[in-house]
Amino acid sequence: MTPASDAPVFENLDWPAKRWIRSNILIDSSGHPAGVDGTSRTLTRGRDRALLRLLRQSADVIVTGGATVRAEGWHFPPNGVLLVVSSSDLPLATCPDPDRLRVVTPGSSTASVAAALRVALTQLNATRILCESGPRLLRTLTDENAIDEVFVSVVTSDGHLSAPSIRHHDAGFTQAVARHHLRLQSSRYDLIESVNDPGLTFLRFIRRES
Ligand SMILES: NC(=O)c1ccc[n+]([C@@H]2O[C@H](COP(=O)([O-])OP(=O)(O)OC[C@H]3O[C@@H](n4cnc5c(N)ncnc54)[C@H](OP(=O)(O)O)[C@@H]3O)[C@@H](O)[C@H]2O)c1
Repeated sequence: MTPASDAPVFENLDWPAKRWIRSNILIDSSGHPAGVDGTSRTLTRGRDRALLRLLRQSADVIVTGGATVRAEGWHFPPNGVLLVVSSSDLPLATCPDPDRLRVVTPGSSTASVAAALRVALTQLNATRILCESGPRLLRTLTDENAIDEVFVSVVTSDGHLSAPSIRHHDAGFTQAVARHHLRLQSSRYDLIESVNDPGLTFLRFIRRES
């Protein structure tokens, strides 16, 4: 049965009672995070934005990367801090709320991004953290074992996309797309939920306890 378009994708989005870092990303079946205009605005569809808003609503901190800010603009949580990992120029003059902005610059090419992030999150006393970056920063953080829970929405069909359409019910394929492009190794991340909408599959992975 196709769910009502305004029904939540996942029933339980409660945060664990400890520091918890979630990520949320939309990709097409080739792993691209953007549509023809180079942003997610031309890729988003269905309930993807509703899921993003729900996740964002209760976050203390949103983490993203400099390239995403330059492409997508500034997206703050309703009541928290936007933390941007960046070593380059950011369009600070256009930031609508500089008081709620933190920029984290990893020290050198050998310094861990996750370590720099942990320091900043501790200073902010943040427990509910949502990473809304693109795939590059996300892969860096999953490689460094820094993300607890990963939401991936995979676009499965659209006549306007260059990526090949896939059958929306092919859960094995969408899982493989997400795992491959975001480096979610099966030894470290378990798929715990999967929801199929027309043209879009929502996947939810949890990092195994180490
Ligand atoms: N579909 C979606 O859900 C979604 C979400 C977010 C973004 N996007 C799209 O994704 C694209 C950008 O994604 P992206 O992955 O290239 O950029 P990103 O998410 O901004 O992550 C890469 C940026 O992080 C910063 N960074 C600093 N040190 C790093 C390190 N060691 N490893 C990785 N990143 C480091 C850099 O910022 P500086 O360059 O400032 O130093 C780098 O440009 C855009 O097209 C955007 O529209 C889509």
